[in-house]
Amino acid sequence: MTEIENQKSKIENLAPRTWTRKHLLGLEDLSAEEILAVLDTARTLTEVSRRSIKKVPALRGKVCVNLFFEDSTRTKTSFSLAAQRLSADVLDFSVSTSSVSKGETLRDTARNIEAMGVDAIIIRHKSSGAPHLLARPGGVNCSVINAGDGSHEHPTQGLLDLFTIREHRHLKTEASGLKPFSALHVAIVGDIANSRVARSNIHGLAKLGAKITLVGPATLVPGDFKKLYPDHITISHDLDSVLPTVDVVNMLRIQFERLTSAAFPSVREYSRFFGLTKTRLAAAKKDLLILHPGPMNRGLEITSDVADSANSAILQQVANGLAVRMAVLYLCVGRP
Ligand code: CP
Repeated sequence: MTEIENQKSKIENLAPRTWTRKHLLGLEDLSAEEILAVLDTARTLTEVSRRSIKKVPALRGKVCVNLFFEDSTRTKTSFSLAAQRLSADVLDFSVSTSSVSKGETLRDTARNIEAMGVDAIIIRHKSSGAPHLLARPGGVNCSVINAGDGSHEHPTQGLLDLFTIREHRHLKTEASGLKPFSALHVAIVGDIANSRVARSNIHGLAKLGAKITLVGPATLVPGDFKKLYPDHITISHDLDSVLPTVDVVNMLRIQFERLTSAAFPSVREYSRFFGLTKTRLAAAKKDLLILHPGPMNRGLEITSDVADSANSAILQQVANGLAVRMAVLYLCVGRP
């Protein structure tokens, strides 16, 4: 067997029986077993990025298109790199110079791109439900991967956050059955109402058994999630009382572009009550894991010294995003 055949056969053995999906639209749709199948596959694929030749042939001959209607640094770059590491051809579609400016619809744009022989469309759109529109009958026939739809979901961010927590806390499925996060308390802090990252995290964490406290001003913390996961979710408006009790804190970006009205009196006041500072960190558990999806508003939801502290896993999240996106592409596109 040649080296390439050997690598291909190793990758092809990564075929969790639990995953049969062609699309990844959100974590709300997934079972705990499916989420763990992605995390297990990602763990195996991290090895590829440590090789001198960082490539495996799992998606050789496949074509993946990045169709981003909103800006991105992390997600778009890491999907491109993930597809390339799996040997797929990658096309970065530029919305701003496309015929979208002439009024072409999302469905027509996607169907025309698919007609060129595309196997996966990775879509980010400002409208919640845009990926679902493409994945349903009458949309496209190829795989659709949601890279963030409005304030609805950002499933690969949710998965990479779960992966980062799991690797950091050594939460192995084998040791803990199907609820490996059951002893874990996670605070999600900030603009939960407008955050697709919060939604995907909440679905994923609750399905894996974690206790979650949603923290923020009343205007930014809706009550719906508590109704959906009453056994898992608590709501608080007092970060100082929550912080010493949690193992992980996920600090959300204030999304000024999605706020429809003034959700808090001033940025200074928001920082005072809900910003993660060195003073607040001093009252937390010593091994508190700090997450932030990026991009950060340094000095607003998190201070620079905390973002760059030893407790911060922010750049680790970005590194893990690559393995998680390789796993998602492999599971949705690369299997017979
Ligand atoms: N976390 C995240 O989605 O970052 P980007 O907007 O840069 O992709």
